[in-house]
Amino acid sequence: MAPRKMLKAAALLITLGYCSLLVYQGGVPFNFQETRAGTVQVSDLSVEAVRTTIDDSAVRNITLDDIFISVKTSKHYQDTRLPIILKTWFQLAKDQTWFFTDTDNPQHQRQTNGHMVNTNCSDSHQRKHLCCKTSVEYDHFLDSGKKWFCHFDDDNYVNVPRLVTILQKYNHQQDWYLGRPSVNKPLKIFVKPTERPAKMRTSFSFWFATGGAGFCISRSLAFKMLPVASGGRFISVCEGIRLPDDVTMGFIIEHVVKNNLTLVPEFHSHLEQMKLLPLETFRDQISFSYSGPKENINVINVPGFDTRYDPTRFLSLHCFLFPHFKFCPR
Ligand SMILES: *[C@@H]1O[C@H](CO)[C@@H](O)[C@H](O)[C@H]1NC(C)=O
Ligand SMILES: *[C@@H]1O[C@H](CO)[C@@H](O)[C@H](O)[C@H]1NC(C)=O
Ligand SMILES: *[C@@H]1O[C@H](CO)[C@@H](O)[C@H](O)[C@H]1NC(C)=O
Repeated sequence: MAPRKMLKAAALLITLGYCSLLVYQGGVPFNFQETRAGTVQVSDLSVEAVRTTIDDSAVRNITLDDIFISVKTSKHYQDTRLPIILKTWFQLAKDQTWFFTDTDNPQHQRQTNGHMVNTNCSDSHQRKHLCCKTSVEYDHFLDSGKKWFCHFDDDNYVNVPRLVTILQKYNHQQDWYLGRPSVNKPLKIFVKPTERPAKMRTSFSFWFATGGAGFCISRSLAFKMLPVASGGRFISVCEGIRLPDDVTMGFIIEHVVKNNLTLVPEFHSHLEQMKLLPLETFRDQISFSYSGPKENINVINVPGFDTRYDPTRFLSLHCFLFPHFKFCPR
């Protein structure tokens, strides 16, 4: 590890140590204020503070500002998927959300106030290049100093206030890997006899959170991953085990760092049947996804705009959750 990074890490740990003397509990009122035509700001994510002296380990008053939200995208989707995000949930987390892409687009750079990161990774959908972007996301999170790293894909809708309230249940100073697996068994890896040292087991298994549903990692855990994953090392691990980026994340956390995935069922990917999500639970969910129309169409069932105007249903979803937005029907 570079000495500068070590110092930064140490300084942060000390700071966090002080914060841990206080415990806050309480609900989060989430108020919006319409400021200008077409723009809505999250004006207040304040928390009612209850100070206790019993448990000094939890700092529960995290706000949206403590979260680093990264969205993996690519130039192939900059005119389709990205504009939907920019029009909807990004407006509720403009300062906290960063896009990791493979191109320079001055218009999007302006619209996001400089939050488009050209990773210089290739725009192909190959494992190596997806791992490359995840690696850059992780490194940017480390540099951000934020308490939580939450990754999403560009076909996710993120229910921003819900993401905040759910993270408040977990202590960022402890090791948390929150997400939802897409399989009901841990992944089992067999190690070829020729590739393993004499005493190594022939197989091991681990869980991983599906990247397409989104997942969050606490800062404490992200630090433990430093020696294996920082400074682009994540890509080498991906290449080493020849598995996708989200699987590699699970491998590093469960197998190398020895921490377990905590199932948070409010994350959703299009590997689930989106239409089975009940409307009355939408407010409780963290993420949504879609696929189609070219592949099998898989979208949530929400009333609202015409499907020709809103094929992904994300505009309708956004108006269902936040009807005060300008583009929503009155
Ligand atoms: C929340 O915690 C931060 C430190 O992380 C502290 O500065 C701030 O005063 C706390 N805010 C509330 C409302 O408790
Ligand atoms: C990508 O390359 C440009 C030009 O060389 C550089 O300025 C930028 O920092 C690179 N981006 C990342 C994420 O490394
Ligand atoms: C993680 O899960 C495994 C198997 O489910 C269990 O044996 C182990 O104790 C867990 N580890 C931690 C740190 O909770």
